[in-house]
This record gives sequence, structure tokens and C-alpha cells, in this order.
Amino acid sequence: MEPRLLLVHLIRENLRLTGTHIGCDTSHCGACTVLLDGRPVKSCTLFAVQAHGREITTVEGLEQDGKLHPLQESFMAEHGLQCGYCTPGMLMTSVAFLKKHPKPTEDEIRWGISGNLCRCTGYVNIVKAIQHAAATIQGGA
Ligand code: FES
Ligand code: FES
Repeated sequence: MEPRLLLVHLIRENLRLTGTHIGCDTSHCGACTVLLDGRPVKSCTLFAVQAHGREITTVEGLEQDGKLHPLQESFMAEHGLQCGYCTPGMLMTSVAFLKKHPKPTEDEIRWGISGNLCRCTGYVNIVKAIQHAAATIQGGA
């Protein structure tokens, strides 16, 4: 493996997991967010070798046994997406966020997703989707 290969390129091109998107070349948009040992990282800012021996979760890993993650269900129910380009990154950030903040306020949600840009939705329905998922996860806990 090329030592300079970026993690996002390993994921998309070598592993063919194209759910992880590239939306910028400035580490700004968050479309490339994945979980590294459970913590959200922008996979365009890491070399693939930096992930050696560590656990990576991409958006493809959210579905379990044919069942969507509550956040995926909530993004559908609350129309938390339009073009969907930002959605994989939003979901991965939100998964980690809700683990840390199971009962978040709206302000906390807005702060939590502030590293992920969406050009379509105006964020209102994304916030609603995360609130919906938080309630679902709490209800099932
Ligand atoms: S592709 Fe935009 S932050 Fe990684
Ligand atoms: S839904 Fe289009 S960029 Fe967010």
C-alpha cells in the first residue's frame, strides 16, 4: 500500500465501499466521516496506514441483520435529506454524538453536527431526525 494513500481512498477505491463520500478538498465538509474506534473522523484527513489495527465503521456498517439503524430510519421519517450527499457523514457523526449525548438539546445537536455541511436541507429536518432517533433509542433502552 502506498504510504500516502488516504483512508477515504482506501475505503472507496480499494474496498469499494462507496457510501463514504468526498465533498471537498479542504477537510471542511464532513461527507467523508467514518468512525475510528468509535470516534468520528474525517477520513480525508488520515492516511490509511494510521488506521492500521484499528476498527473502522463506515455507513455500510450501520445496518445490522437487515435492519436499519434508528438514525437511518429517523432520517427517512423526518426527511432529513434531499440529495443525500452529506447523509453518510451526518449519520456517522450522529451515531457517535448520540452515544455521548443520549438526550441532547437542539443546541447540542447543532453543535454536534457543526463539522458536517449540508447544502440542501437547511438542517431543520436533520435536527428533527436526530431528536427522533434519540427518542427511539431511549425508548428501546
Ligand atoms: S471530503 Fe470534505 S471533509 Fe473530507
Ligand atoms: S442533503 Fe444534499 S447536501 Fe445534505
